[in-house]
Amino acid sequence: MKNFIYLCSCLAMIGFMTGCAQKTGLVTSEKTIKEAPSVTEPARFGFPHDYKNWTHGTSKIILDKESPLYGFQQVFVNNVALDAYKRGSGYPDGSMLVLGFYEAIEEGDEIKQGNILWYAVMKKDSRAGKTSGWIFDGFDGKTYQSTIDDPVNGCYNCHIAKKDREYVFTTFAGDISVPKGTQLPAKPGSFPFTADVRSWRHSNSKVILDKKSPLYGFQQIYVNDTGFKANKSGETYPDGSHITVGFYEPVLDGKTISQGDVIWYASMKKDSKAAPGTGGWIMDGFDGKKLNSVVDEPVSGCFNCHLTQKSHDYVFSTYIP
Ligand code: HEC
Ligand code: HEC
Repeated sequence: MKNFIYLCSCLAMIGFMTGCAQKTGLVTSEKTIKEAPSVTEPARFGFPHDYKNWTHGTSKIILDKESPLYGFQQVFVNNVALDAYKRGSGYPDGSMLVLGFYEAIEEGDEIKQGNILWYAVMKKDSRAGKTSGWIFDGFDGKTYQSTIDDPVNGCYNCHIAKKDREYVFTTFAGDISVPKGTQLPAKPGSFPFTADVRSWRHSNSKVILDKKSPLYGFQQIYVNDTGFKANKSGETYPDGSHITVGFYEPVLDGKTISQGDVIWYASMKKDSKAAPGTGGWIMDGFDGKKLNSVVDEPVSGCFNCHLTQKSHDYVFSTYIP
């Protein structure tokens, strides 16, 4: 273990300590634990299994399998942390940030979110003095067991680069600021844009890079609380279920794709009485900036394509746990 730590710090110095994030995880034999007790405070935490009920922060894809940050990344933010995450400072104790690394499946011009590989988690706990008030840990995607023996070298020493942002790299993507009391317009027979969509549950993401595709963009699928259970289980959606896709600009940088500004939103709301001709769903699309409807023909423009999913209540995508 001593050699391993030495290797880590050495690599850190030449800027490659990144690899240690996962590699330290492999050193879990009883011997190493006895020889080198956890470098950080004893205050560890169990994996937060309810993280999919938290607010989705942002996504990023790193296609380079050599990178320790490889994967289709999803960041989730708990309620305690949310205001600070949006501001970039002031995290109270109990703040938690989960970064899920999922497989990134490349199919031509598309990149899909695959199965979970592992999770990196930060929890704010002012007792964690050696790591500036954050407990860092990594968890196996199947067993949810901790995989990190040395959070200082394996995590903290890299996050130190973001000291001015309280050790947090990412920022809240696609925030929607609509002054309180604003009445957004609705087309007859449809619904106004729902400005609280970023606090809905996150189902999954996908990227379509073909600019000629009507589905071009970095897609984020959000589901309201009424529809979330059906989205998870594949059951028929109850009335009041609402699903919205945000299409964001994919920002390419070598083998990395980040989520850029919003382009537009596609939205479907279950109302079986109001929309019997379109499978019980009212379908509409909204401009990303003006938030007004941009769809004249929801039957030919939306429903006829979703008709192929009739057996899945007209919904294409499936929840990724
Ligand atoms: C090579 C540097 C590096 C190492 C090592 C590293 N991280 Fe990160 N971490 C990042 C970067 C960069 C991001 C932002 C996402 C991205 O750009 O891939 C990030 C994002 C995160 C996030 C989401 C919140 C945020 O800061 O944006 C969490 C949680 C996190 N890391 C935890 C960990 C844990 C736990 C470990 C140790 C197991 C770890 N990280 C190791 C660089 C690192
Ligand atoms: C070319 C076929 C096509 C058209 C046209 C289309 N969609 Fe979709 N839609 C999809 C596919 C496929 C997905 C799944 C995400 C993906 O694979 O890109 C999807 C996803 C969605 C979702 C998320 C729930 C789900 O089904 O996965 C909503 C909401 C949605 N579309 C609404 C609309 C609205 C509103 C319109 C009209 C403005 C529209 N769609 C037009 C094919 C289409």
